[in-house]
Amino acid sequence: MTKLFSEFSIKDVKLKNRIAVPPMVIGLAEDGYVTSGNIERYRELAKGGAGLIIQEATCVNIDGRLMEKQLGIWKDEQIEGLKEIVNAVHEEGSKIFIQIHHAGVTSISENPICPSAYEYKGPFRTVIGREMTIEDIKSIQKDFIEAAARAYKAGYDGIELHGCHGYLISQFLNKNVNKRTDEYGINPEKFVLEIINGIRKVTPHEFVVGIRLAGFEPALEDGLHYAKILDANGIDFLDVSFGFASEQIVNIAEGYKYAHTVFAAEKIKEVVAVPVFAVNSIKSPAIAEAILNETKVDIIDIGRGVLINPNWANDAKEGKDTGACLSCAKCKYFGQSQVCPGKVLFDRNKEQSS
Ligand SMILES: Cc1cc2nc3c(=O)[nH]c(=O)nc-3n(C[C@H](O)[C@H](O)[C@H](O)COP(=O)(O)O)c2cc1C
Repeated sequence: MTKLFSEFSIKDVKLKNRIAVPPMVIGLAEDGYVTSGNIERYRELAKGGAGLIIQEATCVNIDGRLMEKQLGIWKDEQIEGLKEIVNAVHEEGSKIFIQIHHAGVTSISENPICPSAYEYKGPFRTVIGREMTIEDIKSIQKDFIEAAARAYKAGYDGIELHGCHGYLISQFLNKNVNKRTDEYGINPEKFVLEIINGIRKVTPHEFVVGIRLAGFEPALEDGLHYAKILDANGIDFLDVSFGFASEQIVNIAEGYKYAHTVFAAEKIKEVVAVPVFAVNSIKSPAIAEAILNETKVDIIDIGRGVLINPNWANDAKEGKDTGACLSCAKCKYFGQSQVCPGKVLFDRNKEQSS
């Protein structure tokens, strides 16, 4: 595991290894505020040994939430609680970025917004997003910029813009969703580039500003196109995942042995200079090491692996069984505990350490 456990730097942020815990919303917040449950969860994740933790999607505007119990960063009063998460993670020796997010048409708001009117068929309802006016666009961009300034004040090592998975930035980037005929439709990247420029004006140059970007938005060519633009416009890293799911065209090489998102990360890394993260179903330290050696990606995200075993990175380093997610159901954090193999391992580790 030499590469997985080698140090890596993103700007001045030194990571002790190349394992990142990707953002995973668990829903423990109260009215957008951090609870003791959030702090303990992040302390536990940091104790688990990953070099980097990316805090779950944290909303920049109360109307952009994807669930009621989502963390928020839309008010200065929320900074105090967020600081406690940062301190807990730093005390345990990891670095932490925060993912900042707006769900757009997929939000729980009564009257959700979208770059252009779009019928979204969600798991709980079908809704038509209201086309954003220019004032809406400016106002939400300001929310992202102010959220980043708050993240800096709270002590985060950087931010990750949530730019994929069908949320607002992804809705702008995807030409099947964004049908605007103005400059925000002709140049769909304008929305996010203006946010990045605004963030640069309110945070110091050293502050890391990255994005979770779709490899397929809707197709790989678009992912590559946006990655190059972001790279040329000063983004600090690209965490490559999937796009607006129902509008995606997943075009990868036949027989590719890892997930389609890893394929996209590999291809994107070939055309950009900044660090690239790969994610999805990386179920063992050996697979993580192989991806680092066979591709040029820089960081490996371990999501559900860490949900079922928060000590994943330490166990991997010591050559112990890390456990593996079986992808048995849509993951609801032990919601299917009777079948989740990680739960057994997690309980065993807890017993041994107490
Ligand atoms: C419970 C849960 C919550 C998630 N929340 C987020 C999120 O807040 N932001 C995000 O970009 N991805 C989110 N994801 C996706 C993960 O970051 C990751 O990309 C996905 O689980 C695939 O990686 P894995 O196969 O290692 O689990 C979530 C995944 C799970 C299981």
